[in-house]
Amino acid sequence: MAKSADAPSGALKIAFQKPDADVSGVVVALAGPDLAFGPATAAAIAPAREALGRAATAERFKAAQGSGFELLAPALDGVERLIVVGLGDGKEPTDWVKLGGQIRGKVASGATEFTVIAETAEGALAAEAVADIALGVRLRDYAFDVYKTKKKDDERGRLAKVTFAVGDEAAAKKAWKLKEGLAEGVELARTLVNEPPNVLTPTEFAKRAAALEKLGVEVEILGEKELKKAGFGALLAVGQGSVQESKVAIMRWNGAKEKNAQPVAFVGKGVIFDTGGISIKPSASMEDMKGDMAGAACVVGLMHALASRKAKVNVIGAIGCVENMPDGGSYRPGDIITGLSGQTIEIINTDAEGRLVLADVLWHVQDRFKPKFMVDLATLTGAILVALGVDNAGLFSNDDELSERLYKTGLATGEKVWRMPMGPEFDKLIDSKFADMKQTGGRHGGSITAAQFLKRHVNDTPWAHLDIAGTGMGSPASDINRSWGSGWGVRLLDRLVKDYYEE
Ligand code: BES
Ligand code: MN
Ligand code: ZN
Repeated sequence: MAKSADAPSGALKIAFQKPDADVSGVVVALAGPDLAFGPATAAAIAPAREALGRAATAERFKAAQGSGFELLAPALDGVERLIVVGLGDGKEPTDWVKLGGQIRGKVASGATEFTVIAETAEGALAAEAVADIALGVRLRDYAFDVYKTKKKDDERGRLAKVTFAVGDEAAAKKAWKLKEGLAEGVELARTLVNEPPNVLTPTEFAKRAAALEKLGVEVEILGEKELKKAGFGALLAVGQGSVQESKVAIMRWNGAKEKNAQPVAFVGKGVIFDTGGISIKPSASMEDMKGDMAGAACVVGLMHALASRKAKVNVIGAIGCVENMPDGGSYRPGDIITGLSGQTIEIINTDAEGRLVLADVLWHVQDRFKPKFMVDLATLTGAILVALGVDNAGLFSNDDELSERLYKTGLATGEKVWRMPMGPEFDKLIDSKFADMKQTGGRHGGSITAAQFLKRHVNDTPWAHLDIAGTGMGSPASDINRSWGSGWGVRLLDRLVKDYYEE
């Protein structure tokens, strides 16, 4: 077996220095319209200012956010390249994370280090903005290449260190310390999604979740014996055709002052590979179904982020890890199974497996932890791609306040959600002739009936379901992501917790 990626690969070092310290090598300067620089930048680049002006004119540089040009070997001691990146006209608030990604994009591949003079024409950037730029640089720089054995040349030119010249070194360092765990959390989620299914088995996935113990997260792993005893009949039905043992991992971060403060909870679909089972999928692109655990990956990445910054809140993260395979022992269409809630389910299509996994984990979490709310994430339906495309996750909820908060946080982080309808007219589509409910409701409104099915397993708990089939994997390249597994949702939920639920 090939070796696996135990550590997130983005081990890029972020450092800070004083604004008046010498800059050398590859240097990035930030410019507003009319090539407006801050005072430290102006001082650092003074001898090259005129050449820079001519280059800007030749480039027709208008300082649009993320646009840029560079001067090779400018008349500045020790500077190899001077890269100017536009800050925009200041009419819109700057998205610093995105700017960080854009800066990384402007630095030629092959550079091993660069320095950013972190100021605008108004002066030094706030520590928080600098940390966000650093986050964006890190996220853009992430690459999953552990399985490429012929990467010697790339390695020599791999970016290793980015230094920020800042107004207040100590403040920037502190802000970055709080944000570094978020960068690692997104990287971890991406790596889990990118990992192949022969390496990332349910058991290996649970092990990676258990690695969070080093951050002070309590992790409990339930194997098939425990799951059977507890009655996780729906989750176990999905995994019964696989030689891999099904696993549930429960992660607990106790950051609230009061030990028993009511927790918030996040639940993830962790289908490490989805063949469809007996209702087998067509071969084309089936390899993408290694990403059918993007929801669970997000939950693990989120727990990493929250624990790293010692978030003052109690949080439960729960993931159901299974493999959906066709086999003589597989569950089949027509089977009637009993889930953890005690309700019976008539199986219609073994490819609608994610809702079965989530049903049991959601029930377990609300029953045992009585959380303030539960948010689940799942690559649940192809239908959500048809409805919303790849830029918005589908949001389904029984709670308007939670929905509103998720929507606003989505706009703030760029990880957007769009609320979809639910209601009795959809719920009745999953009534069954033979059991308490059918597992699917037909082709029309497929993402909605899937959500209605989940709703039957959350009791009265405020709950939101995020269908991330379009956003979690196969992501188009963006300013802050070049990876197939996007790590979508980690930044969204980290911010949701921070803005609304921390002490
Ligand atoms: N994992 C898939 C959904 C999916 C599709 C995720 C494409 C990412 C990209 C899910 O388990 C599934 O197969 N859903 C079925 C449900 C149907 C059988 C009711 C689907 O969407 O076709
Ligand atoms: Mn499926
Ligand atoms: Zn699936």
